[in-house]
Amino acid sequence: MSARRALITGITGQDGSHLADLLLDKGYEVHGMVRRSSTEKFERIEHLRDRITLHQGDLLDQRSLVDTLRAARPDEIYNLAAMSFVAVSWIQPTLTAEFTGVGVTRLLEAMREVCPQARFYQASSSEMFGKVRQVPQNEATPFYPRSPYGVAKAYGHFITVNYRESYDLHATSGILFNHEGTRRALEFVTRKITWHAAALKLGMAKELRLGNLDAERDWGYAPDYVEAMWRMLQQDHAEDYVIATGKAHSVRDCVEIAFDHAGLELDRHVVIDDSFKRPAEVDHLIGDYSKARETLGWEPTTSFEEMIRLMVDADYKQLKA
Ligand code: NAP
Ligand code: GDD
Repeated sequence: MSARRALITGITGQDGSHLADLLLDKGYEVHGMVRRSSTEKFERIEHLRDRITLHQGDLLDQRSLVDTLRAARPDEIYNLAAMSFVAVSWIQPTLTAEFTGVGVTRLLEAMREVCPQARFYQASSSEMFGKVRQVPQNEATPFYPRSPYGVAKAYGHFITVNYRESYDLHATSGILFNHEGTRRALEFVTRKITWHAAALKLGMAKELRLGNLDAERDWGYAPDYVEAMWRMLQQDHAEDYVIATGKAHSVRDCVEIAFDHAGLELDRHVVIDDSFKRPAEVDHLIGDYSKARETLGWEPTTSFEEMIRLMVDADYKQLKA
């Protein structure tokens, strides 16, 4: 039997690279869509470059999406590409809408044209819950997004549901709460904290400048979350699922765990910098993943404390080298 074929958009990102690792382990033929850049930024997939096939494409360009699907002939499509940094979505609101929102419709249209029998995964986000209407949040909780990113993701979510219902596509939306790990970009708060904890310990940084320390998130471990994405596409019927840990921590908790692990004191090194505060904040997110547990048999494996410690250790090792 020939190997199943998967296409990952956003394969150079945190989740895309973990998902490529997982699918290769499962025997898939893995294709990735990448956009052209004058300097290649493929660090996260360097270790598997000779085992995957890359296609040039961009969520802004319909022709490239159709050609990518024709070349890859995927059984499963994972749409992970997006402008994913919430803070930048206020600086580039319409571009965020194009990438993160309308880009989903472009890819669904390309799928309808080229491979309507394929299974489709959309990377939806807990940021859609924003100013939360219910605690904890589940699949039925109404959305109240608080950023241009959250608004764009809500569009991407509903267009996925709409194409499933309109055209009978196997299209699933995974509403994932924050997930982190050693491949997280440095601008996101967990990695910013763990990198600085390591750098401060090594005398390579003097302070850590942060915005709102009171914001609370339900933070999980990225390798666990890509396993959930794959499980969703193995179901006979496409539905939407919340993926979370069911536990919330504040940004301050994150600093305390990282600094404690590195032998540092929060008060000596952390400086509050208003430029990192957002025009509208999401104060508290906590997810209810009972449906994923019952239907997908999915459970998180790594606690927040373990994850932050392993991120500090990885940053320390990398900076020391
Ligand atoms: P990430 O590390 O920022 O990766 C984003 C990926 O999208 C990168 O590969 C990027 O390519 C690609 N991309 C951006 N714009 C594109 C475009 N116009 N055309 C083609 N590719 C484009 O994000 P992540 O953390 O892995 O997240 C994966 C997805 O899950 C995103 O959609 C994100 O919004 C969503 N999500 C993430 C979380 C989380 O906590 N991580 C939670 C919920 C939902 P370049 O390398 O060229 O920039
Ligand atoms: N990035 C950042 N930098 N955030 C800070 C800082 C700082 O210096 N100081 C405080 N924060 C607070 C933010 O205000 C926010 O409340 C929280 O830390 C988390 O910020 P991020 O790590 O940037 O993540 P996010 O929650 O905005 O978005 C992430 O999770 C979403 C799912 O809920 C991203 O991965 C999104 O792509 C994802 O959809």
